[in-house]
Amino acid sequence: MSVENSARTVAELDDYRKEALASLAKIEDERALEAWYRSELAPSGQATAWRRKVGLLSREERPAFGKAVNSVAAELEQAFSAKREQIKLEALVQRMRAESVDVTLPSRAHAVGGYHPVTLMLREIYDIFKLMGFQVFESPHVELDLYNFQLLNIPPDHPARDMQDTFWISDDVLLRTHTSPGQIRAMQALCPGPVRVILPGLCYRFEEITARSEIQFHQVEGLAVGPTIRMSDLKGILLLYAKLAFGEHQAVRLRGSYFPFTEPSVEVDIKCTICAGKGCRVCKYTGWLEMLGAGLVHPAVLRNGGYDPAKVRGFAFGMGVERQILLRHEINDIRYFFQNDLRFLKQFA
Ligand code: FA5
Repeated sequence: MSVENSARTVAELDDYRKEALASLAKIEDERALEAWYRSELAPSGQATAWRRKVGLLSREERPAFGKAVNSVAAELEQAFSAKREQIKLEALVQRMRAESVDVTLPSRAHAVGGYHPVTLMLREIYDIFKLMGFQVFESPHVELDLYNFQLLNIPPDHPARDMQDTFWISDDVLLRTHTSPGQIRAMQALCPGPVRVILPGLCYRFEEITARSEIQFHQVEGLAVGPTIRMSDLKGILLLYAKLAFGEHQAVRLRGSYFPFTEPSVEVDIKCTICAGKGCRVCKYTGWLEMLGAGLVHPAVLRNGGYDPAKVRGFAFGMGVERQILLRHEINDIRYFFQNDLRFLKQFA
């Protein structure tokens, strides 16, 4: 090759270098970058073609031109790597932008739940009886006939069973009709020591649902057993409870009553706050709402609990929880408690 030819070749190499770099600079995505690589730097690409041209030169010219071709190829390699990094980075930035989370956006408001009015009332009852030294004792909802009735002095065929019909699971297993079977369980657990417990929980009765009666409702049973217990203790505790739960001036009355497991027995009524004692459907037009049954524990029941009735005596009471909330908040229908209607429940939250 002549000197003139060789000079042209060097100039062409430089033109090629500029063109290749210019086309690389315009590339914006990985696909175009790959195509560029195939046409310039791959074994079948332009760089190889330029290397082949080195062999066409004279022996003297070869080293310098070979060096120039290598340096162009190296420059293109380097530019290619830099471009590849740049494209990768841009893709990453774009992805991060698309997937970014705006941490300054206000979050969606959470729906905050509240306590059911029965739970709130129960907690208040626990607090009041805690003040008087009572502790909470749990007993089963699914009970034996033996505990729900027989050990409470209600043998099979006793007429008192008619007042508490229930849901039977088998001939001798049932859903408890009251919290009183817990009296026997507490005595059996704590005998021969003194007893001062409250027993809260659901009770079940197979009866007509009305504004004041449900087929499931809560009771809190109270039981105290000891050598010096008297009727006046029961009266004092119940009156103090009524004052603390309903206010100093809330009228309360005790009526003589009958329960097979207490002797004597009383019922405690509270003046109806819904009609102020005038009479309404909640109080069955009597002006009073029955809140609880109570009495001195029958000697047979004390014996069934493991105690000697000649040595100890006891008092017991069983109060309805929903009925007290009806009075408190002047609610005229007990059915609201089990309908899960948020418009009702939210008023207590
Ligand atoms: C009893 O259940 C007795 N175990 C209470 C007792 C305990 C007496 C200890 C003596 C000694 P009674 O059936 O009256 O008694 O129910 C007690 C209270 O539960 C009632 O005063 C009333 O407030 C509530 N209650 C009874 N039946 C229902 C009902 N269907 N729906 C809502 N509350 C009820």
